[in-house]
Amino acid sequence: MTELVRCENVARTYGKGVDAVVAVHGITCSLEPGAQVAVTGPSGSGKSTLLHLLAGLDRPTAGQVSWPALDDEPHGRIGLIFQGPSLLPPLDVLENVALPLLVAGRTETDTRAAATRALRDVGIGSLARKLPEELSGGQAQRVAVARVLAAAPRLILADEPTGQLDSAMAGHVIDLLVEAAVRLDAALLVSTHDLLITERISRHWEMHDGTLRKDAPCSR
Ligand SMILES: Nc1ncnc2c1ncn2[C@@H]1O[C@H](COP(=O)(O)OP(=O)(O)OP(=O)(O)O)[C@@H](O)[C@H]1O
Ligand SMILES: [Mg+2]
Repeated sequence: MTELVRCENVARTYGKGVDAVVAVHGITCSLEPGAQVAVTGPSGSGKSTLLHLLAGLDRPTAGQVSWPALDDEPHGRIGLIFQGPSLLPPLDVLENVALPLLVAGRTETDTRAAATRALRDVGIGSLARKLPEELSGGQAQRVAVARVLAAAPRLILADEPTGQLDSAMAGHVIDLLVEAAVRLDAALLVSTHDLLITERISRHWEMHDGTLRKDAPCSR
């Protein structure tokens, strides 16, 4: 099956000389359509760096990242849920979800319909006119999920999407991501410290000091 994304011997070093930090190195991996993978690893092991490379938001300093099933055009076809807060404070919830679609050139009518549907799908249709500062952590995270789902991506990358949530809300957000990936026929890669996630996602990769161990045993 043609891979959505493929990394060949990829490295990413931040900075130069004595200050250089090798965040990831020697990584070869790929994701096929429909794949569901959880990535674990200690803080600083390179999970966010890997996700940014897979999304095409960052470039490797060595090796190659390619997107064979996307004709090497990842932009607009991969959705990334960022690790930290990512909603724009002056925009309300609906506008936050709509913005990437408008930037991608979709019409206003189409954008409004897609954003409204995505908010309803994650159970927060009633929050459309709230500002980010009026949301709880769990609500804000669901808006970030809706923003990605509205664009119907082929690959969903979620960077510690439950890091700030209690276990009930974390379970809910993971269920939403898994269900949405199946509904959209998208692949899903979730980085996490949360064992609950590795239990719900079939494949498990582990990062350590910038290297990746694929198909590590699930910690059930
Ligand atoms: N923009 C940057 N500039 C310099 N160093 C960076 C930058 N981003 C990350 N690093 C370094 O790269 C390494 C990997 O960081 P990364 O954020 O990928 O880890 P992580 O596994 O996502 O950690 P966490 O679980 O805490 O989110 C760390 O040593 C970090 O300090
Ligand atoms: Mg991280």
